[in-house]
Amino acid sequence: MEKDMVAENIQNDKNPTKMLSLVSHKLKTPLSIINGYSEAILSQSAKEKFSPFTAKALEEINKQGTKLCNLVDKLLLFNKVESLQPKDLAKKSINLKNLIKTSANDAISHDDEVATVSAGSTVAKKGTFIEIDCPSSLEIKADEELMSFLLEEMLTNAIKFNNKAEKIIKVQCTHHGDSISVSIRDYGAGIRPQDVNKIFESFYQVDDYFTGQIDGWGLGLTMVKKILELHGGSISVISDRGLGSIFTVSLPVA
Ligand SMILES: Nc1ncnc2c1ncn2[C@@H]1O[C@H](COP(=O)(O)OP(=O)(O)OP(=O)(O)O)[C@@H](O)[C@H]1O
Ligand SMILES: [Mg+2]
Repeated sequence: MEKDMVAENIQNDKNPTKMLSLVSHKLKTPLSIINGYSEAILSQSAKEKFSPFTAKALEEINKQGTKLCNLVDKLLLFNKVESLQPKDLAKKSINLKNLIKTSANDAISHDDEVATVSAGSTVAKKGTFIEIDCPSSLEIKADEELMSFLLEEMLTNAIKFNNKAEKIIKVQCTHHGDSISVSIRDYGAGIRPQDVNKIFESFYQVDDYFTGQIDGWGLGLTMVKKILELHGGSISVISDRGLGSIFTVSLPVA
C-alpha cells in the first residue's frame, strides 16, 4: 500500500510549525464531514421522532465537533500569523472606536445567539458589559483583519477568565505623542506574578496542574504579541490574582 504522503512528510520534517500545519489540515476534512452530517440530521424535520437520548447525543456530537473544528482553525491561524512579516500587512487607516465596538460585539456573542445591546459606548449582553472610552476621531494605521482579531482575543479572555455574575470590562484609548494605547481592564480571575510573563508563551495556560480542561490552546496571547511586533507595537500587563487584570496595547500612530 502506498505510504500516506502527509504522514511521510511529518516523519521526515523536524519543523514543528510545518508539522502543526500538516496535522491541522489532516484533521480538517474528517471533522467537516462529521459536522456536516450531524447538522444535516439535526435540521431534518423527522428530528421530532428521535428519542430524547438520540436527540441529545446528536446535539452533543455537533457541539463537540464544532468546538474541535474551532480548535483546528485556531492552530492553522497560529501557523499563519507566526510566518507573517511586516511586509505582508495590509495597513490602512482605521477608526479605532468603531473597530473596538465591532470586536466587542464579536467577543460578546461567541457562545450563543442572544442579541447584544449597544447603548452609547457600551456593548452588553446577559450580565457582560464592555464600556468603551475612546475619542471618536482616533485613527490607527494597521492591518484591519489582524487588529480586530487581536481585540477580539483580548476581550474574549477578559470575559472567559472571569466568573463574576456581572462582568464589567473597561476599554480606554489614549493618544500621547506618537503612540496610541488601548487598555482593557477586567475584574475577573487575575494572574499571579509568577505567571504574568509566561502567558505570552505558546500553549501556556495558567493552571496549578495540567488538566487540559481549559477551553482553547493557550495561543491567543502569543498571536496578539506577534501581531503587535509586526506593527511596531507592544503589550504590557498589570494583574493580581482575584482582583483582575489590565492589558495595555501600545501602537505607533503612523
Ligand atoms: N484577562 C485574563 N484574566 C486572567 N487570566 C488570563 C487573562 N487573559 C489570559 N489569561 C491567562 O493566560 C493564559 C493564556 O491566554 P491565551 O489567550 O494565550 O490562551 P487561552 O485563552 O487559554 O486559549 P486560546 O486563546 O488559544 O483560545 C490563559 O489560559 C489564562 O490562564
Ligand atoms: Mg485566549
